[in-house]
Amino acid sequence: MKTRVRWIAGLAALASAGLALAGMGMGGGMGGGMGGGMGHQAMMGGGSMLRHHYVMSNGIDPAYVSARNPLAASAANVAAGKKLFGQYCSSCHGATGRGDGPAASALNPPPANLSASVHMPMTTDAYLDWTISEGGTRLKTAMPPFKSVLKGDELWQLVTYLRTL
Ligand code: HEC
Repeated sequence: MKTRVRWIAGLAALASAGLALAGMGMGGGMGGGMGGGMGHQAMMGGGSMLRHHYVMSNGIDPAYVSARNPLAASAANVAAGKKLFGQYCSSCHGATGRGDGPAASALNPPPANLSASVHMPMTTDAYLDWTISEGGTRLKTAMPPFKSVLKGDELWQLVTYLRTL
């Protein structure tokens, strides 16, 4: 009889340990999931998640992969880029590139916060050249292609300016 009681008590202890473990597992899983999600958002900081995911699975258009900004980060190039940005980009991306231009609220996905994106490792010169030249044609977003709009050094002047955001 005594043994039997001990056995039942043992089972109960095992069961509650099991429950505790299951509970921890769930808590850990949920916490991990939520934490991961939030970390991801913070990492993107309002950058174009759609575009970053696209590049992670497909890479950059081969026509652009070896592009490098040939311009010096001179005051003249930054000023020229800033002027072009006001002309072509700020309506969506905002005066300082934070993704808060007057046209932004109507767009889904929204214009990226460039002041965050341009400092991410993924945002290479090639990435910016491809993004600005081809826009969102492939990704079906509102980002317009600028390859036939920008002339000469203008694209790289814009990139030089973006790096200062
Ligand atoms: C009509 C609105 C609109 C205009 C004008 C516009 N963009 Fe965009 N842009 C977007 C949207 C929407 C996205 C997010 C979706 C995407 O990546 O295609 C975006 C994304 C980007 C990205 C990708 C950022 C990242 O996190 O990967 C860059 C770089 C960019 N734009 C630069 C520019 C520059 C430079 C100009 C001006 C020459 C410009 N955009 C003009 C709407 C616009």
